[in-house]
Amino acid sequence: MVDRRRPEEVAQQPSRRVVLGVSGGIAAYKACELLRRFSESGHDVTVVPTAAALQFIGAPTWAALSGKPVSSEVWTDVHEVPHVHIGKSADVVVVAPATADVLAKAAHGLADDLLTNTLLTARCPVVFAPAMHTEMWEHPATQANVATLRQRGAIVIEPAEGRLTGADTGKGRLPDPAEIFELVVGVLDRGAAGHDLAGRKVVVSAGGTREYLDPVRFLGNRSSGQQGYALARAAAARGADVTLVSANVSLPDPAGVSVVRVETTAQLREAVVAAIATADAVVMAAAPADFRPTAVSEAKIKKADDGTAPAIELEQNPDILAEISHDRAREGAVVVGFAAETGDATGSVLDLGRAKLARKGCDLLVVNDVSGGAVFGSSDNEAVILGADGGSVEVPHGSKAALSHVIWDEVVRRFVG
Ligand code: CTP
Repeated sequence: MVDRRRPEEVAQQPSRRVVLGVSGGIAAYKACELLRRFSESGHDVTVVPTAAALQFIGAPTWAALSGKPVSSEVWTDVHEVPHVHIGKSADVVVVAPATADVLAKAAHGLADDLLTNTLLTARCPVVFAPAMHTEMWEHPATQANVATLRQRGAIVIEPAEGRLTGADTGKGRLPDPAEIFELVVGVLDRGAAGHDLAGRKVVVSAGGTREYLDPVRFLGNRSSGQQGYALARAAAARGADVTLVSANVSLPDPAGVSVVRVETTAQLREAVVAAIATADAVVMAAAPADFRPTAVSEAKIKKADDGTAPAIELEQNPDILAEISHDRAREGAVVVGFAAETGDATGSVLDLGRAKLARKGCDLLVVNDVSGGAVFGSSDNEAVILGADGGSVEVPHGSKAALSHVIWDEVVRRFVG
């Protein structure tokens, strides 16, 4: 299990009360892994399966994994009034998988079993992770129920795309349990007030682009994509509708985030420009290659018999950040860039950062000192966030998740209306 938080962050966390609602879909088996992640990271978990969920995974499994008895209906241990106290005492309720049926009941305030009663009594953040067939997800009834729940403040994660129960594929899969766990921990860390990106659309680019010389060789860079993925996860936990344009990253898709995969800088540009038309904020955390070969050989380039090496002629790629900062596809959208600097004879890391901020024309520039290559592939980061308004925020050494939240705080501060 990969817990991306640093040991001191895990140790500092109080034991929090998680209610895991499980409704009756085949993905109920994946909730076992989610439950283990919560209990192994010290959370106090109460599982509330629906009667239909017990058709897939029996009560003994939930009881053994959570260390507590489980019930689906309100008639067990009535003297403890479970239909009220489970919801009222929770720090977060997560329903995974959430079927079309449970979403409909929650949207209409029905309370015919322990889970739906719990949803009505909970005053903490509530996260639904829907999983169902694409047709059921896309049905106007389900979409209207999802809109109602979101409008009331619940986080309803967009399902992932991929293989469904049968041979069919499409939108409707339960996201990776590890990623649902990350999202819920993000929600718990920020509490009910942390839902400040709800109703906002954000675009994040991540990873490093590749520029092909021939079908097997490319020019690339060392970007792992971790910072961009952390930004996407953090935005999803704050309720945003997130599009992640991902260039050659081998990390799991963050829960609830729509991922667009690209390889080259030209493809990255096209995907970012398409996604920002309706976006409230764009964060360019990707490392696009600045140059590409002027010609891409269709066949693999062979070694010459005389030992000479081929000369590679390069041309410049478009500067996406400068272009979107200049064009401002949507008035009021906040544009954020990153700058990895080492400092040189012409100026310090911050001098170069200020000059780059002005040159690119973005609203915020997150400046990393990469002398020694310390940041690449690491789960930690430290940075200074420079504002075009002259402000600056120093973010001390910490996780990329922590830096992401400070970046979103600065973005939110700049939203007008
Ligand atoms: N960027 C971009 N398009 C490019 C290159 C970079 O949008 N072709 C974005 C990156 O995503 C990042 C920011 O610009 O947000 C800074 O990238 P950097 O490589 O530091 O900027 P350059 O303009 O290439 O500056 P330098 O000459 O220092 O390399």
